Parts: sequence; C-alpha cells; structure tokens
Amino acid sequence: MPPAPSVFLPGLFDGQVALITGGGSGIGRGIADLLAALGAHVVLASRKIERVETAAEEIRAAGGKASGIAVDVREQELVKQMVADVAHTHGRIDLLVNNAAGNFYAPSESLSANAWKSVLEIDLYGTFFCAQAVLPVMRAQGGGSIVNISMTLHYRGWPLMAHATAAKAGIDAITRTLALEWARDKVRMNAVAPGPVPTEGVRKAFTPPPSADGVPDVFAVEKAMESYAQKMIPLQRWGSPADIANMVAFLASPAGAWITGAIMVVDGGEWLAKPQSCR
Ligand code: NAP
Ligand code: COA
Repeated sequence: MPPAPSVFLPGLFDGQVALITGGGSGIGRGIADLLAALGAHVVLASRKIERVETAAEEIRAAGGKASGIAVDVREQELVKQMVADVAHTHGRIDLLVNNAAGNFYAPSESLSANAWKSVLEIDLYGTFFCAQAVLPVMRAQGGGSIVNISMTLHYRGWPLMAHATAAKAGIDAITRTLALEWARDKVRMNAVAPGPVPTEGVRKAFTPPPSADGVPDVFAVEKAMESYAQKMIPLQRWGSPADIANMVAFLASPAGAWITGAIMVVDGGEWLAKPQSCR
C-alpha cells in the first residue's frame, strides 16, 4: 500500500466504510489502496474470493483495514446479500465504488447474444443493482457517496466495443438520473471516466504474438505502449490506478460535498486528441 499523496489529509476517511466492486485487481485495487491509506475500511468484492481475500490481506499487512467478499454483480439477489452482510458487519457503507467490469474487443457482426448480455449485465446491471442495494443503508445513516467507473470510448464511438460502450453510456445516464433522484437522501452519485491504464487486460492487448521460439517479446510490449503514449496521449504517459483513485477520493471527500451527477474524465487528454477511427 503506497503512502497516501500529501494532498489528502491523513485519516480523511477514518471510521468510514468503502465497498469497492472489482477491488482485487487493477484500478479497483488502486482505489482500495488509497482509501485504506486514508483510513477507510475497504471491502473488496468480486467473483473470485481468493483474489479479493489476497488483496485484503496485503492491505492489512501494510497497515490498512480491509476485507474481501464474494459477489457476482450480475445477480441481484447476491448483490443484496453482499450489501446486507457488509452493513451488518460494519453498521454503515459510506462509499460504493462501482468498478467491476468485463470487456473484450470483438466484431459486433458476430457478437453472440450471451457475449452482449454478459458485458451489459456486469457493467450496467451490476452498477445499478449495487447502487440500488446500498441506497437504504446510506439513507438510514444520513447520506453517502457512490462513484461509478465509466470510460471515454463512447464519447465518439469505438469499433469492436459496441457492448462495452453501450454499457458505459448507460452508466453515465444513470449517474445523472440517480444523482437527481437520490439527492434528497443526501446520496451523491458521480462517475470517473479513465483513459488508458495499463492493467493486466490492457497489457495483453498490446502483447504481440510470441516469436518463433514461443517466447513473448516483453520489450516489444513496452515499446508499443511507449509509442502509444507519445503519439496518442497529450500528457504523454499512461495513467495509473493511483490517478483514478485520486479522483475517487476527491469526489468522496468533503471537497466533493456539492458535486453530484458529474462525470470526471481522467485521461491525460486522450479522448479530446484521439483521431476518429473507421476500422
Ligand atoms: P480488471 O483489473 O480486469 O478489473 C475488473 C474487475 O472486475 C476484476 O477484479 C474482476 O474480478 C471484477 N469483475 C468482473 N466481472 C465481475 C462480476 N460479474 N462480478 C463482480 N466482479 C466482477 O480491469 P481494470 O482495467 O482495472 O478496470 C476497472 C474499471 O475501469 C472497469 O470499470 C473498466 O471498464 C474501467 N476502465 C478501465 C480502463 C483501463 O484502461 N484499464 C479504461 C477505462 C475504463 P473477478 O474476476 O474476481 O470477478
Ligand atoms: N470475443 C467474442 N465473444 C467473447 C469473447 C471475445 N473475446 N470473450 C467472451 N466472449 C463471449 C463468450 O463466447 C460467451 O458467449 P457464448 O456463450 O455465446 O459463447 C460470452 O461472451 C460469455 O463468456 P463467458 O466466458 O462464459 O463469460 P463470463 O461470465 O465467464 O465472463 C467476460 C465475462 C466475457 C466479460 C470475461 O471477459 C470476464 O470475466 N472479464 C473480466 C475481466 C475484464 O474483462 N477486465 C477488463 C475490464 S475493462
């Protein structure tokens, strides 16, 4: 767990409970690390219990408060049970981060009904089910904050991503709508739209096929990624989970107290600069 950046007060989230879906890997893990470093008890939720328990153990070993819980966010009953368990154990849920997602590049022409359904259900339905389930807990405690992790690819369209762009556009829509519906309960809903962050899945996409001797050329991956950053990202570097986590922490903190229904792009300027593709 890296030390929290000095822009945030030590103990900012002391006594608070943050539930982070997909918190065992990638961006979700970065969010968990930062919130734990700032004093929150982080509950990491995803399908693979060993993944979230290992991550929670690492956060505890670094001095944070953390636990793992199994859930498939596509299953509304499992989501309700998870939220009931967390509320029962901790007595509150101050922050929900809807970060879990599924994604892959695939031509829309041949996308199966199940492939479409899987991504829509994880990203869009999962976000809605988790938000709906935490609402009564947050209302009962006098308020709370929900941050949805979106993307920017749907701002102009992105070939081979019809399923994910549709799901994330839906997430942006519910971010604005639920922000209005739930403001009276002092529940704020915002979103963060990350640019490219080289998590395991993203690095895979940059990995060229193995050479004749079957060994992947790791230097080629680094070179391809460096070249992408130089050409495509105005701030000329990839993002990190910490870049996204900083925005989540800001939105969840008292500094974000008058912000609801906002979608904050954190992408080094990528989407503004991206040339339109017609692949
Ligand atoms: P990641 O490491 O693959 O994380 C996805 C997480 O979601 C995993 O921990 C996974 O855990 C969990 N998950 C998947 N299906 C689930 C389900 N049905 N129920 C519960 N949990 C589930 O991906 P990432 O790159 O960090 O992405 C995190 C978020 O950032 C996503 O919302 C993604 O769309 C968004 N984003 C990422 C980028 C980027 O460049 N990395 C860019 C824009 C937006 P289990 O397998 O254990 O379930
Ligand atoms: N191209 C086309 N279709 C694909 C695909 C691909 N690359 N990967 C999966 N699918 C299809 C499967 O063929 C299946 O459809 P079918 O039953 O008609 O054959 C459907 O998607 C569901 O796949 P399955 O593996 O059974 O689903 P799952 O529920 O176990 O996994 C996914 C969900 C597909 C989203 C999986 O990629 C996943 O779990 N991802 C989580 C990690 C991730 O995506 N991280 C990036 C976050 S942005």
